[in-house]
Amino acid sequence: MKAVVQERALPIDDPASLSDMNVPAPGQPTGHDLLVRVLAVSVNPVDAKQRRAPRTDEAPPRILGFDASGVVEAVGPDVTAFAPGDEVYYAGDVTRPGCNAQWQLVDARVVGRKPTTLDFADAAALPLTTLTAWELLFDRMCLRFDDSRHRGQVLLVIGGAGGVGSMAIQLGRHAGFTVVATASRPASADWCRAMGAHHVIDHRQPLPPQLQALGIAAVDAALNLADTDAYWEVLGELLAPQGRVGLIVEPRGPLRIGDPYKAKCISIHWEFMFARARFGTADLIEQHRILNRVASLVDAGELRSTAHTALGTINAANLREAHRQLESGSVIGKLTLAGWD
Ligand SMILES: NC(=O)c1ccc[n+]([C@@H]2O[C@H](COP(=O)([O-])OP(=O)(O)OC[C@H]3O[C@@H](n4cnc5c(N)ncnc54)[C@H](OP(=O)(O)O)[C@@H]3O)[C@@H](O)[C@H]2O)c1
Repeated sequence: MKAVVQERALPIDDPASLSDMNVPAPGQPTGHDLLVRVLAVSVNPVDAKQRRAPRTDEAPPRILGFDASGVVEAVGPDVTAFAPGDEVYYAGDVTRPGCNAQWQLVDARVVGRKPTTLDFADAAALPLTTLTAWELLFDRMCLRFDDSRHRGQVLLVIGGAGGVGSMAIQLGRHAGFTVVATASRPASADWCRAMGAHHVIDHRQPLPPQLQALGIAAVDAALNLADTDAYWEVLGELLAPQGRVGLIVEPRGPLRIGDPYKAKCISIHWEFMFARARFGTADLIEQHRILNRVASLVDAGELRSTAHTALGTINAANLREAHRQLESGSVIGKLTLAGWD
C-alpha cells in the first residue's frame, strides 16, 4: 500500500524528512480493531513533534498521522459497534502506526461514525482537536455542555484560531459561556468570530487592559492552548476566585503553583488526548461516545467543521507543506489532505 513515512528525524525543509513509500498493508483486524481504508487526513502539531523526536538509525520507517476519516473494510471479533462499509472518523493512538497510509488498523473504541453532512476531508479535520477540547472542558474541568449554569460566565480561550481553539470556542459557546478568544492577526481574529467567539483580544498585547475595556474584571475559566509558561502568571491574575485553568501544552520549566493560584483556589486541569489509548484506561470507549455525539451535533447544525485549508492529495510533498505551516505557529483552523495519487 502507499504510505508516507518518516525514516530519520530531519528538519522539514529536507525532502527526506517525509517520504512516499510502498509498505506492506496491515493484516486482518483482531480483537477490538477495525481495518479502515483511509480517505482523508488532517495534520496536527503532534505530527511535527513526533517527526522531530530523536530516532535510532535501526528504527523502522514510521507512519505518522493522527486524524483520519475513511471506510471500514473489516472488523475484529470483539467489535460490535461497526460493520464493513461504515464511514468513520478518529484520531487513533500515538503509540501505533498512524493514518498517513492507505489502510490502518485502529481500535474501534476510539472511533466514531463520521458526520453524514461532511465530506471526508471536513470530517478528518475534527477528531484530535475535538476530543482534546471536549475532554478538557467536560471531562477534566468538569464544565457542563448541556445546562444553563455557565450563562453569564466568561471563558477565555488563548490561541483561539488554532485547531483546538476553533473547537473550544464552539463548545464553550454551546455550553453558555461568554467566550473571549485571543488572536494576533486580522485573519485569525475573523476566524475566531466565525467559530462563535463573542469577543477577540490580541495575545501579543497585555491581556488585562483588553478585558477591562470589555467590562470583564475576571474570567471564570481559561484554556491555555498555546504556551503554558508564557500565560501562567497573567492567568493567575485574571482568573476569578475558584476559577479553573485548562492546559494542553508541556511547560518548558517548573510552574509556581502557589499564590495567587492557591489563595484563589484556582483548579488546574491537564488534558492529554492520547492518555486513554496510551494507558488503556477502563473508560477508553468514551472517545467513541464523544465522537458519535459530536457527529450528531454537526449533523444537527450545532457544531461545524474546523477545516480551513485543503492541501491536496495525501503524499509526502503535501504533508511536508502541512508540517512546515504547522511549525510556523500560524495555522488557522485545520489543514486537510484527501485521496491518494
Ligand atoms: N495535550 C493534548 O492532548 C494536545 C492536543 C492537541 C494539541 N496539543 C498542543 O496544543 C498546542 C496547540 O495545538 P493546535 O492544534 O491548536 O495548534 P495550531 O492549530 O498550530 O495553533 C495555531 C494557532 O496558535 C496561535 N498562536 C501561536 N502562537 C501563540 C501564542 N504565543 N499565544 C497564543 N496563540 C498563539 C496562532 O494564532 P495567531 O496567528 O492569531 O497568533 C495560530 O492560529 C500545540 O502545542 C499542540 O501540540 C496538545
